Amino acid sequence: MPLKIIGAGFGRTGTNSLRLALEILGYRTHHMIKALSDITQDPLVWERAFNDPENHPDEWESVYGNYDAAIDWPTVTHYKELMKKYPDAKIILTTRSAESWYKSMNNTIFMKMHSNYVEELPEHPRLFLKSQQKIMLDGYLKDDLSKSHNKEELCRMFEEHNEEVKRLVPPEKLLVLELGEGWDRLCEFLGVSVPGTPYPNTNSSGEGFEKNAEIVLNELEKQKLDLQKVKA
Ligand code: A3P
Repeated sequence: MPLKIIGAGFGRTGTNSLRLALEILGYRTHHMIKALSDITQDPLVWERAFNDPENHPDEWESVYGNYDAAIDWPTVTHYKELMKKYPDAKIILTTRSAESWYKSMNNTIFMKMHSNYVEELPEHPRLFLKSQQKIMLDGYLKDDLSKSHNKEELCRMFEEHNEEVKRLVPPEKLLVLELGEGWDRLCEFLGVSVPGTPYPNTNSSGEGFEKNAEIVLNELEKQKLDLQKVKA
């Protein structure tokens, strides 16, 4: 099943709300939450691709085969390669101001990276997040997590990434979606009607983010129990 939508926007640009929006529109949508909470996904597929961009084995169907859309990290790191693999896919670049993006990163992902959070997770999400830490932001944090404090450099990377997407993706295939926009331009771009439900608003710094972390852990626990039932 080829991907019909590829997300090219960094995490913390409204990707989880977009995931829920796309699911309302009928797209099965991959997102970091899925990679974290689905123990059938090999957590190291993306790192293998990152480490050997020219010659890595093509394992994309093993993670994206059951999906119509893939957004957020880990997908965004590989958007150029995925555009070649799925040439008919449309690209959505979720974005916001660099300053507000950096603040949101600091309040959530970077805060967790600087704590013991990852070390204390179950094996699947721990392996996935440790691997992502090495490759997200083009490996910028790989050897030195304190580089997350480099606001100026990270904001520059955010802007440059967004400019690259706008330069490389043909305009008719690209939707640049500003945080807080809602349904209208998204539905027009996908050629579907605007649903009756409000556009989702999730994953805010603080409560929303913590709630999603809890959802991931509950889902993993459920999968563990289901596996035990199958074995019994
Ligand atoms: P803050 O951290 O500034 O609260 P992601 O899901 O990619 O991690 O992005 C989460 C960020 O997008 C959070 O920002 C969240 O509040 C914001 N967000 C999500 N949906 C939104 C919406 N419909 N309108 C405005 N902001 C939204």
